[in-house]
Amino acid sequence: MPRPLPETPYPAALLKLVENYLVTLDLGADRRAAHLVEAMRYSLLAGGKRIRPVLTLATARSRGADPAAVLPAAAALELIHTYSLIHDDLPAIDDDTLRRGRPTCHVMFGEDIAILAGDGLFAEAFNLLLGRQAGAPEAVLAAAAEVAAATGVQGMVGGQYMDVAGKAADDDDLRTLHALKTGRLIEAAVVCGAGLSGAANVAPYRAFAAEVGLLFQIVDDILDETGDAAELGKSVGKDRAQHKVTYVSRFGMDGAERLAGEATERAHERLSALPGDTSDLASLTAYIRSRRR
Ligand code: IPE
Ligand code: IPE
Ligand code: MG
Ligand code: MG
Ligand code: MG
Repeated sequence: MPRPLPETPYPAALLKLVENYLVTLDLGADRRAAHLVEAMRYSLLAGGKRIRPVLTLATARSRGADPAAVLPAAAALELIHTYSLIHDDLPAIDDDTLRRGRPTCHVMFGEDIAILAGDGLFAEAFNLLLGRQAGAPEAVLAAAAEVAAATGVQGMVGGQYMDVAGKAADDDDLRTLHALKTGRLIEAAVVCGAGLSGAANVAPYRAFAAEVGLLFQIVDDILDETGDAAELGKSVGKDRAQHKVTYVSRFGMDGAERLAGEATERAHERLSALPGDTSDLASLTAYIRSRRR
């Protein structure tokens, strides 16, 4: 088995901006919904890696913009990602009891409230993006359209469907499954950061992020086999137990490691086509390859 790579550093200042923004976020103050909001905050504030919002901020910063200016859009992506995790963990989907180092939302609050907490996070994400994100109306609208598309049938939910229905007959299907399930939201994170900071052409950003997204899920598949549950904060060995089609089941561990390496190279190549100071994006790419959590 290949030895783990040394973990590379993470843009700490950007992570702090995201964390501070998320803890102060008002998800609804009505006392009648307090228990629902508690469930939403329970999963949101459990200490994820915040890769998607940090990518949004890092992209804005690479363009010379103030990263704090894109926090509402960045946070919206983390709300949607958290919703996807809550629903992914439900007994009807992956049936997981550990997430972000804590019992999963449905274990703590029950399935009914966990489903609603996910729904609530999804809707509040658009509330945030459309209500709080400053910028030219066309740019905010484009960001909202990007996030909606990245979440729908041609995005995360479509990928989750392919995953639960086992719809990955060949290598191309498996690549599509990963691109939709995980890649599209990561793509949206970078594209929103670029568009909201004035990029006229987001295509090169999308091309870079698509490789990062694929890489992210290949590494997730590898960590399900080789990772440590305490470090990852979620169960391991579930993909094999549930007969999921993953990069490891399809290509073996060595094949998955090789394909992760190739995706990393392509990501760095595509990054070199982007303007500005892309050093944070380069560190994030290296982190995503070498991460152990
Ligand atoms: C896990 O995402 C689910 C996938 C899309 C593979 P992360 O690994 O980003 O989870 P957190 O946000 O750090 O908990
Ligand atoms: C889930 O993929 C991706 C989502 C859209 C939530 P996984 O099912 O592999 O994610 P983990 O391993 O449970 O985090
Ligand atoms: Mg899953
Ligand atoms: Mg899962
Ligand atoms: Mg996984």
